[in-house]
Amino acid sequence: MDAVANAAGAPPRYSIARYPTALIDRLPLADGRVVTIRPVLPQDAELAQRFVAGLSLQTRYRRFQMGVGTLPPRLLRQLTEIDYAAHLALLAGVVDESGDEIQVADARYVVDADAAPWPGGDGDAEFALVVADDWQGVGLGSELMRRVARAARARGLVRLHGEVLSTNTPMLDLLRRSGACIRTRAGDARLVDAWIDLRGAAD
Ligand SMILES: CC(C)(COP(=O)(O)OP(=O)(O)OC[C@H]1O[C@@H](n2cnc3c(N)ncnc32)[C@H](O)[C@@H]1OP(=O)(O)O)[C@@H](O)C(=O)NCCC(=O)NCCS
Repeated sequence: MDAVANAAGAPPRYSIARYPTALIDRLPLADGRVVTIRPVLPQDAELAQRFVAGLSLQTRYRRFQMGVGTLPPRLLRQLTEIDYAAHLALLAGVVDESGDEIQVADARYVVDADAAPWPGGDGDAEFALVVADDWQGVGLGSELMRRVARAARARGLVRLHGEVLSTNTPMLDLLRRSGACIRTRAGDARLVDAWIDLRGAAD
């Protein structure tokens, strides 16, 4: 991400250094529906806002672990103005009868700001994943998680980690199927820590 000001002194604006087109794909789901997967763009802010607003309370709470209704502008920018290296986000979407794109899922990793990369550029990143209620249970979440892990591994990251509500059985099942390690947190029964070791993991 480049923050650049023009000669007239306009406020900094976001510009993209390299949009990773190799991550664009069409994915057929188990129920016959097909989604397009692509890296998130800054102009997806409205799309993302509508996506989050359309989630059930439970899905929203499981993703954000707080009661967000409308995403505040700062968070929305953080989620959409990404650099595709330290922060990669993929969205899955479909086009409706009017030709408008509708977002149905979001998966991302964000490299830990305070993780000092050791030689070779290795490091840790946090994952996040959410699938719209009507699109759950047909393999989309698992596939997005696989793709985010593959992109993180290609970037030289060694571990994806996240905290999950201990009552979030669907996510914990997905993580177990993805080969993640899961550990209950001492002193906080509400959350568990999960991590996926990317070294030597298959695609
Ligand atoms: C957790 C979450 C991301 C899972 O996404 P998903 O797309 O439903 O996951 P999948 O479809 O890949 O797998 C879930 C179920 O579908 C089944 N499934 C997976 N692939 C399938 C396929 N090809 N055909 C049929 N069923 C399939 C899985 O076996 C699993 O079944 P289960 O419910 O019996 O365990 C989704 O439920 C969600 O968004 N939850 C709210 C937000 C959240 O919890 N985020 C994580 C925060 S840490």
